[in-house]
Amino acid sequence: MEKKEPDQGGYLLPVLVCCMLLACAGLVFAVYTHRELSLLKTQIREHEETIQTLQLCKSARDNQGSEAVRIRKNAPDSCTCVGAPGRRGKKGPPGPRGPSGAPGPRGPQASRTIMHWKVSHTEGSIEYHPTTGFIKVKRKGYYFIYSQMYYYDGSTMLMGHYTCINNKNVMGSAGSVISSYRKYNTKYHGGVFLLQENDTISVRIPYTTRYYMDSESSFFGAFLLGDLAPRGHQAISQQGPVGESIYLVGDGTSLSNPLSNLITNWVVRNKLGSIHYDRGFITVIKDGHYFIYSQMYYHDARTYVMAHHTYINNELVLESVGSTITDNTKFNTKYHGGVFLLKTNDTISVRIPYIRHYSMKSSASFFGAFLLYSGESN
Ligand SMILES: *[C@@H]1O[C@H](CO)[C@@H](O)[C@H](O)[C@H]1NC(C)=O
Ligand SMILES: *[C@@H]1O[C@H](CO)[C@@H](O)[C@H](O)[C@H]1NC(C)=O
Repeated sequence: MEKKEPDQGGYLLPVLVCCMLLACAGLVFAVYTHRELSLLKTQIREHEETIQTLQLCKSARDNQGSEAVRIRKNAPDSCTCVGAPGRRGKKGPPGPRGPSGAPGPRGPQASRTIMHWKVSHTEGSIEYHPTTGFIKVKRKGYYFIYSQMYYYDGSTMLMGHYTCINNKNVMGSAGSVISSYRKYNTKYHGGVFLLQENDTISVRIPYTTRYYMDSESSFFGAFLLGDLAPRGHQAISQQGPVGESIYLVGDGTSLSNPLSNLITNWVVRNKLGSIHYDRGFITVIKDGHYFIYSQMYYHDARTYVMAHHTYINNELVLESVGSTITDNTKFNTKYHGGVFLLKTNDTISVRIPYIRHYSMKSSASFFGAFLLYSGESN
């Protein structure tokens, strides 16, 4: 027994040494692997931008041959632009100062016009000017104007874009950025506006310079609805389809726990024909198929989800929803639109399912309808 104890000690020592050697080897291996992995990560990161650029170029090339016509051919004057390849940047806006650099302070002054458009379709006298980024109309009339942008900047709290007539914001979209990974967002808006000869339409971005300009997810267009164009002096009663249109915009208030689910904070921005608005309700007089659309600007994080509904009479026909995450990421515009057959005295209204906070800023919350095909011909 006494002899065995030192033997055991002598036996333990090499085992310990072995263990230590193994541990050392493990450590060296771990350090080596870590360094290799770091190197790989750096290389991947370096290549990511190259790959991104290449993909953008490729998708642009793929699209050069196939002209996506987003607008019906029979529209008398129409134009669609789609995102052109590559990122904005190096060239900067006109002026001796050169590149516009880091995103400016918030506010409309900081916004800039998107110029990276490629014409996918154009018809009639409406034209796109690549040097300014403007679509210019040559005929006076009511136009449906629309745009979508793809946001992917994770370095800012809020992303958005505006559609402008003569450099004045008429429609805007906004969406909170949740994190540097949860930053992808497309936003669309569209509405009917009366344009004069030589009026320009453009898309402006307020917060940052980073937007994806691929042709499917960023686009911008306009088409003439009803031809009000007077030839000479005759105010032509047209055979064209649109004699009925109304466009309402938010009255600028911040709706906070309103008393009713029915939104009544609208102001008539333009109106054509017998369709009219009164205390929350649009009423149509002429039977026919109408395009109905609305956008609301959600501003509340006290509920998990925000939403808005569009009703025909007392029937819910269109609905938008959006999750709210935190108080910092509660900003969200949602747009919807569709075609419905309406009869005389049918009403259209926008309602909110949750009595919460909505912004009725005129460019962010709006509501309208216009006649596509008159029901009288049936
Ligand atoms: C529109 O622009 C054209 C060309 O610049 C000009 O000839 C025309 O007079 C302009 N029309 C109006 C109404 O300003
Ligand atoms: C529509 O409403 C007006 C006013 O309430 C009424 O005079 C008219 O008869 C109604 N028309 C139809 C077709 O319901």
